Amino acid sequence: MEIKLHAPLDMHLHLREGAMLQTVAPLSARDFAAAVVMPNLVPPVTSLERLLAYRQAVLDAAAPHQFAPLMTLFFQPYPEEILRAAQPHIIGVKLYPDGVTTNSAGGVNDLAAVEPTLAILERLGIPLLVHGESHGFVLDRESEFLPVYAHWAQRFPKLTIVMEHITTAEALTLLERYSNLAATVTLHHLLLTLDDVAGGLLCPHLFCKPIAKRPEDRAALLEAALAARPRLMFGSDSAPHPIDRKETAGCAAGVFTAPVILPILAELFARHNALDRLQAFVSDNARAVYGFTPPNKLVTLRQAPWQVPARYGEVVPFYAGETLAWQVDG
Ligand code: DOR
Ligand code: ZN
Repeated sequence: MEIKLHAPLDMHLHLREGAMLQTVAPLSARDFAAAVVMPNLVPPVTSLERLLAYRQAVLDAAAPHQFAPLMTLFFQPYPEEILRAAQPHIIGVKLYPDGVTTNSAGGVNDLAAVEPTLAILERLGIPLLVHGESHGFVLDRESEFLPVYAHWAQRFPKLTIVMEHITTAEALTLLERYSNLAATVTLHHLLLTLDDVAGGLLCPHLFCKPIAKRPEDRAALLEAALAARPRLMFGSDSAPHPIDRKETAGCAAGVFTAPVILPILAELFARHNALDRLQAFVSDNARAVYGFTPPNKLVTLRQAPWQVPARYGEVVPFYAGETLAWQVDG
């Protein structure tokens, strides 16, 4: 069996810099037509000059694959001129609360103080992408942030607000309520619960932010993805860390899914008789939310077993060493 996807899109991706970028960029560039590239580098991407240089580095690392990096600026209270100048080169601005996740130092401390900048984004038509977690108890961080989304959605009705990597049934309910809210969901949050991370022996390669939640949350996310619910987009949050930052005391947050995304999604959608919805989930929904036309790229998935490598460079991938039923025709 074979399926073809038109311009699959990864609407939330970490590519890093340097040697790590060289290792991981070709993997996403082979399978996806475009990806939203996160700005949480060290230091973060806060100037147009740095953003353009980073974009070029991504393109160089992704060659010869046809791949469009959709760039993001790290949220700061930018003046309007800076945002106007950046607008042709970015798909959105990514807001991190200070310190909530990997490389988010320098993020936002005072949520009320961001509103003048949100008003500018709304006026210019630039989407706001948000890592929506509070600094509260780890399992409650997403739900504690939901009132912030609701407030912004009402206060800035023309601003497109993307709730990144949602992990709870509650977030899906909020998504229904405001038409200017959209959301991404990762592959790993469709498959994992907290039990997979910490219920038995601790699995550092499954540790990420937001942490995987309860079985009922996973079930709700999976149902919404399989239905390709409007405004719910695929965004992997594939986040590579070298093995010595994962298999250590003080494990870094991030699951590296890039090389296995489409095969696992195909298997998952096929198992639930939903293969006809995969195109909408991995591409069409995102086109509608962002109102953009991705490059023409046809990706073929074939039902044929392959074994996931134990490592890609220094990084351990999701499902390392396991045999998957589908593969991307490369
Ligand atoms: O687990 C995560 N890793 N969550 C994030 O929000 C950031 C990411 C990273 O950059 O490693
Ligand atoms: Zn992320």
